[in-house]
Amino acid sequence: MTDPNSTPLIEVRDLVKHFGSVIALGGVSMKVHPGEVLCLLGDNGAGKSTLIKTLSGVHAPTSGSFHVEGRPVSFQSPRAALDAGIATVYQDLAMIPLMSITRNFFMGREPLKGFAPFRHMDMAHADTVTREEMRRIGIDVRDPQQAVGTLSGGERQCVAIARAVYFGAKVLILDEPTSALGVAQTSMVLKYINQVRTKGLGVIFITHNVRHAFAVGNRFTVLNRGKTLGTHTKDEIDIDALQNLMAGGKELQDLGAELGGTV
Ligand SMILES: Nc1ncnc2c1ncn2[C@@H]1O[C@H](COP(=O)(O)OP(=O)(O)OP(=O)(O)O)[C@@H](O)[C@H]1O
Ligand SMILES: [Mg+2]
Repeated sequence: MTDPNSTPLIEVRDLVKHFGSVIALGGVSMKVHPGEVLCLLGDNGAGKSTLIKTLSGVHAPTSGSFHVEGRPVSFQSPRAALDAGIATVYQDLAMIPLMSITRNFFMGREPLKGFAPFRHMDMAHADTVTREEMRRIGIDVRDPQQAVGTLSGGERQCVAIARAVYFGAKVLILDEPTSALGVAQTSMVLKYINQVRTKGLGVIFITHNVRHAFAVGNRFTVLNRGKTLGTHTKDEIDIDALQNLMAGGKELQDLGAELGGTV
């Protein structure tokens, strides 16, 4: 297990973010250690996306402290966060469906060969890397030149994660990677998240689904209206208590009882 006394990869304290008169984050503190999955749970509008966009350099915080590996940071752009090793996989994935798996894997970071002004993308090398990286995660890509849109949703999520890992991410932020997936595809992505964790990366996993969170999470932070309702380790909390902590959890259980089953 992770050492709670080790220097966190990411730590924020009292993070506040206002959008005009809207208080999206009202003083959030959290940290992620190497080799752990921190799950960020919360209802719609709780502030999950705002928090990760602040961590990934999209928004500047209104106030609060932000440290990466013990050093204070203030990112001016997503590129700056990426250079510091914080990679975010958004739900829409930023992939181009008609472009090849290889092209999507290397987008913006193509390996070049030759000399200026005749430099061009080293496609053979890129294909080899792509096929090899996919093979590592158990996806057999026969032709890396096939369009990424021909892969399943789960496979595309895995490509996006593999791309971030290959390019040196230390912290991987996943915004609802399983929300659009069926059971088999979800389990593929959750297994891969766990594999990434065992390599020593820190993972922030955003989800609405307590079961998905519980399957891979080491700690759970519940956000509610821009504030944390606390962080719990896996042995401190069970799945029902976690469900209840989320806004609407109680209502859902009541609804389940009313409908004569569980929701
Ligand atoms: N760019 C923005 N301008 C103004 N208000 C915003 C902006 N982004 C977010 N908000 C507001 O901040 C609050 C938190 O929104 P956020 O998107 O972070 O929630 P969320 O937890 O990601 O919700 P969901 O589960 O629906 O994705 C909401 O009240 C939202 O309307
Ligand atoms: Mg969101």
